[in-house]
Amino acid sequence: MEQKSFLQNLMATVPKFLPVAAVVWLIVKWFGLPVTICWGMAGIVIVYAILLSIPSKKFEEQSFVKNVGFKTPVVLVIGAGVWFGAEYFGFPIWWKIEFLAATFVALLFFLTLDLKPMQPEKKAANWVIRLLATYALASGIFIGITDQLPQFDPGVEIAKLEKPPLKLSAAAGPEVIAAGRQVFQDNKCFNCHKVFWEGNSDRGPNLGSKQIGLYSDDYIKEQILDPRANQSPGFEDKKSKKAMPTYYGDDLSKDEITALVAYLRTLRDPTHMPVEGKFGAQWTWWDDKDAIAEGKVVFEGLEPVTEGLNCSVCHGKEGIPLMQGALDFRKEDNMDTDKMPDHLAGVPMKDWPDSLWYKRVTRGIDGTPMGPWGMIFPHLYLWKAEAYARTFHDPLDKRTEKRPVPPVPTKEEIEKWQADELFLDPLL
Ligand code: HEC
Ligand code: HEC
Repeated sequence: MEQKSFLQNLMATVPKFLPVAAVVWLIVKWFGLPVTICWGMAGIVIVYAILLSIPSKKFEEQSFVKNVGFKTPVVLVIGAGVWFGAEYFGFPIWWKIEFLAATFVALLFFLTLDLKPMQPEKKAANWVIRLLATYALASGIFIGITDQLPQFDPGVEIAKLEKPPLKLSAAAGPEVIAAGRQVFQDNKCFNCHKVFWEGNSDRGPNLGSKQIGLYSDDYIKEQILDPRANQSPGFEDKKSKKAMPTYYGDDLSKDEITALVAYLRTLRDPTHMPVEGKFGAQWTWWDDKDAIAEGKVVFEGLEPVTEGLNCSVCHGKEGIPLMQGALDFRKEDNMDTDKMPDHLAGVPMKDWPDSLWYKRVTRGIDGTPMGPWGMIFPHLYLWKAEAYARTFHDPLDKRTEKRPVPPVPTKEEIEKWQADELFLDPLL
């Protein structure tokens, strides 16, 4: 074979890449991928074209092992370049891995190209077709693998690329909450979690009806970063246990997580007991033995988080009031206090709406020792204490049926909570 110069080689090689470039361009346009990918691919291919064009005297005689030995370091250098280049342009981890993989696929291709039985093909233009075929095969494998990964959606990744990263210093208050909602939406949390009436499926708990906002920042954060640490009640089956993706810790920045948690903290319902369990087989805390057991601890003043709060000091450990005038929880026909302007007449305690329980216990009763506990203590624990208080007139082991799960609040109802100022600010 006649020895050609580097320039001659290059001039002969570059035109062969034109169809490749055209096809890549078409694919990118067709799938609406960012054009940046084209530049990345083009860069990789150009570097290989140059390398291929370096004249090598005994190219044909090189053994396979030597060939690998010669090309691997080059590929490693290119790989590192691709990786840090992608890093520089702020590509997410998945894209970086794919770019790196593309570099290695190219190595594979050039290695097979140099295998002896294939040598004649090297000169023919049809090796361009083989390059395409190699990439098509590799892409097929990538897509096959990534398809198996839970919830990997290129659309989401692309959307993330096109958005500037969230920087919290520029935002505060309602802006942080709105940004957190956007993070929730962008990361397809709605695919598995409803938030009250909104969302696509009930694979995971409805974070609105569950009132995830009652929990601490740290608890919510841990459930997102390490979803296997605590299983949500009613989601202990094998499939649900593994459903929640474990990659959010890698995908989300610190600011994104902060915003996400700020948004989730707003998911509360001042008119209903929290609802647990899988859609279709749900129950409320009124009948939840774990919530009630914790409520007893709060009621008796033994919960460290609510140190200083002790319902039993006034209402009695056995439900026999120790303080004159304190409500007797053993009498299911007790009426709502008449000391409050929004007094609910004619409804016995056993039929009180959840909203009345919540309002009285969080806001207190004017001019009495029954204080606005909700101004001081986290509402998570107050709901539980209320669920326990009910057991004095309606013991858990004597119940014949559970309280019905309330219908999911509508958009209008939720807007009305805000308008009617049913939430205490700040939310505890
Ligand atoms: C593929 C489905 C799926 C996706 C996507 C998903 N989750 Fe989950 N998630 C679940 C399931 C199922 C559970 C209940 C089982 C468990 O606790 O792991 C759960 C549990 C949770 C919990 C704990 C609830 C509790 O009772 O303590 C939180 C909080 C949560 N997810 C938030 C999120 C957020 C935020 C996102 C998006 C960034 C998200 N999830 C995306 C399926 C999903
Ligand atoms: C310092 C004493 C005291 C403590 C502590 C206390 N209460 Fe009371 N509570 C009262 C008194 C007194 C009333 C009756 C007020 C009235 O109607 O005059 C009352 C009334 C109530 C009522 C009836 C509201 C209504 O609509 O009439 C509920 C429910 C209640 N308490 C729940 C609780 C719970 C739950 C706790 C613990 C988280 C608690 N209380 C802690 C003194 C106390």
